[in-house]
Amino acid sequence: MWFSKPKLKPKPPFFVWSAVDHSVGVAMFDGEHQHLTTLMARIHEAVQGGHDRHLALMLMEQLVQETRIHFAHEEEAMEKAHFPDLEAHVAEHRALIAQAQNLLRQFTIGATSATMFPSFLRDWLIPHMRDYDRKYSVTLRRQGIR
Ligand SMILES: [Fe+2]
Ligand SMILES: [Fe+2]
Repeated sequence: MWFSKPKLKPKPPFFVWSAVDHSVGVAMFDGEHQHLTTLMARIHEAVQGGHDRHLALMLMEQLVQETRIHFAHEEEAMEKAHFPDLEAHVAEHRALIAQAQNLLRQFTIGATSATMFPSFLRDWLIPHMRDYDRKYSVTLRRQGIR
């Protein structure tokens, strides 16, 4: 009797960029967001592919560093455009960095494992860019920042 091999279901990608759902209307920041989500997908992949502790940690550190740079770019643009909610947005950025640093600290002392990274990432920067970053869109575009 012939048995066919069970078909492996393709794993859904970590994140799928959609202009409708994720664009903030500023090309530079859409590009940076896409770059950061690509990095998140690499972390997800590293974790799935055998829990490579060292690689996952290295990529997480890179992500936090590049997110800091991205936040600095946004803060500079919001300041330049006199965005009225700058202070609240900056506070949100600080809180997000603190959350990531806390996770990395927990990881390095062995209090959490790399398997926690993807679920953390899903709730971390993606909701911020989808819900919070869109608020600066109109102000920045009005100032010619697109
Ligand atoms: Fe952002
Ligand atoms: Fe932001």
